Amino acid sequence: VEAKYGEKSSRDLYDVNAFALSYFREHLPGPALDYLKRRGLSDETIAAFELGYAPEGWDGLLKLARTRGVSERQLLEAGLLIENPENGRVYDRFRGRVMFPIRDHLGRLVGFGGRVLDDSKPKYLNTPETEAFKKGELLYGLDKARTRLKAESELVVVEGYMDVITMHQHGFTGAVASLGTALTAEHATLLERLGVSKIRLMFDSDEAGRKATLTGLDQVIGTRFEVSAHRIAGGKDAADVLMEFGGDSIKAALKDGVTEVHVRYQNAAAKFNSNTPEGKRAILMELLPRMMINESLDFTNAPAT
Ligand code: GTP
Ligand code: MN
Ligand code: MN
Ligand code: MN
Ligand code: MN
Repeated sequence: VEAKYGEKSSRDLYDVNAFALSYFREHLPGPALDYLKRRGLSDETIAAFELGYAPEGWDGLLKLARTRGVSERQLLEAGLLIENPENGRVYDRFRGRVMFPIRDHLGRLVGFGGRVLDDSKPKYLNTPETEAFKKGELLYGLDKARTRLKAESELVVVEGYMDVITMHQHGFTGAVASLGTALTAEHATLLERLGVSKIRLMFDSDEAGRKATLTGLDQVIGTRFEVSAHRIAGGKDAADVLMEFGGDSIKAALKDGVTEVHVRYQNAAAKFNSNTPEGKRAILMELLPRMMINESLDFTNAPAT
């Protein structure tokens, strides 16, 4: 039987990624493990999420690959090596980073995210787009969240890797995150297909998080999801408040959701003065177009005035 287009090379990528993952996990003990402990993660959580460390140095993975029959070409295709276009030399992409393996909703190892242990930039580095790693279709943690979807089938979308992991550690096992992008239409389609009915957006309580909430809402317009937005009080993001205040802080935030229209209203009201006729008009003009195309808002039964 002929393999479907892309299937063979994807399978190859999963294997190469698995090779890299075992290398990263072997190197976790030391500063990276200390770092994760400082961030409140338990041994059990660290094992469940298969966290690892890519050591400093330019060619640790490359050298090991040579002894294991994994070729440079395979590592390049998996995004694990970088090629210098000037001289053709190759070196490890991930160096000196805590490694977060990324699995798709079927549990296949499609790529990695890597975080520095200090304040240097870029803070996170991801696998580049490959045959297997398509950022706009992936949700970190979905492989785990999925198996725990209840009859009610609700997900909590948070912002980052650490948020997902810390949420899971505290029992909020429906947590997933997009990979540094906004929620996309592809994400929404995938979640619909998986039978998710309720999506709670719980992004960071900063300007970027507010923007991500609005963009996320745009992606679920016209879908059948029940959507709510949740503000994290007393901290920057889900991981931070869990670390500082424990699970009750998230429970409170989850209880306190606001609807889509409410979020849009708050956003518009912050931009215009709702005390003047012009301001009121501007707010309405911003809200109406979105409300008109949202199937979940049904005006047909509204009482006549
Ligand atoms: P911590 O500092 O480890 O708690 O990270 P965070 O998740 O709180 O970081 P932040 O809120 O700044 O970013 C949220 C998510 O955006 C991260 O988990 C990453 O997926 C992504 N992200 C953040 N910084 C970068 C970056 O420099 N490069 C890339 N590619 N993605 C990033
Ligand atoms: Mn798929
Ligand atoms: Mn953020
Ligand atoms: Mn954080
Ligand atoms: Mn954050």
